[in-house]
Amino acid sequence: MSTAGEVRSYRDTFVPYWHPVAYAHELREGPLAARLLETELVLWRTASGVAATQRYCAHRGADLSAGTVTPQGLRCAFHGWTYAQSGSCVRIPSQPQTPVPERARVSRYLAAERHGLIWVCLSPEPAAPLPEWPELADSATVATVPLPRLDWDTSAGRMVEIVLDVAHLSFVHEGTFGNPEQPEVPAYDVEKLPDGLRAQIVYPALAPAVGSAPPRVDRTTLTYEVTFPFTARLTFKPTLFYPHTVYAVASPWSEEKMQCFYFASYHPRIRNFAELFVKSESAILEQDRRVAEGQRPRAHPLDFSGEVPVKADRLPIEYRRALAALRLGRPPDAPALD
Ligand code: FES
Repeated sequence: MSTAGEVRSYRDTFVPYWHPVAYAHELREGPLAARLLETELVLWRTASGVAATQRYCAHRGADLSAGTVTPQGLRCAFHGWTYAQSGSCVRIPSQPQTPVPERARVSRYLAAERHGLIWVCLSPEPAAPLPEWPELADSATVATVPLPRLDWDTSAGRMVEIVLDVAHLSFVHEGTFGNPEQPEVPAYDVEKLPDGLRAQIVYPALAPAVGSAPPRVDRTTLTYEVTFPFTARLTFKPTLFYPHTVYAVASPWSEEKMQCFYFASYHPRIRNFAELFVKSESAILEQDRRVAEGQRPRAHPLDFSGEVPVKADRLPIEYRRALAALRLGRPPDAPALD
């Protein structure tokens, strides 16, 4: 694939998208530091929703995540300047009779709470809406369980690619989910959507062992759904067990570093699901981490000039093509520049 054309910087490409920066349960009554695309942020709750601004105070650069949330806004711990959700300073306690200078403000960003996550868009005009996952809205029929944030030395694109990679299951996940007896990847189609991709494949996965019995092989239907730029939703439908869905939302700190918010939804009737998921998925992701952090380059390549993709890699190939199109300022479903 050619990457002819002007490639936009990594940051410029992904700034206009919503990215998660924290689990909603992590943001309590106090402010919370966060980071996105080399931008240091502070988050706090207000009566009208979540606020996100630059992390360092306009007065003397103190860390606002050490401040206090008040009814007027976020109060800096150093000299008490208080910032409203708009980013404007509304109070300077050391000179209360003097008008607040125009420059006494911090950059503010769009923030939203959805799907158990705090999302931030660093641009005032998002390029795409937040992902729609209506199944999560009904807490009577769906429960969710999050894993601790994944903090990996790899790019967000590499992280999503490993989630989409079918051929690695039998090798990287031998001993957990992968079936070493079935390395061949059957042919599958990838559906291109305006804002994502979709593919379905049947994989003879290993079902967990019960008691002293060996693991069983179960034909698990894997449905992959990508929302650009860095979200993958993967539904597991075993024949022998209830389905569940995993959400992997990578959030770029830089071109070579990301954190990932990883959680599952499942039917509340499944007993012990949360406990089993945290244990088994943590082991599976640790296997992935070792591979992903070892890949070079760490930055997500724009093409395959340094790699040799094969047909079994079809889904990661289409994903990489879509992200390369975004870097070139083209729609993600634009035809490849082969
Ligand atoms: Fe924040 Fe002075 S540094 S109020």
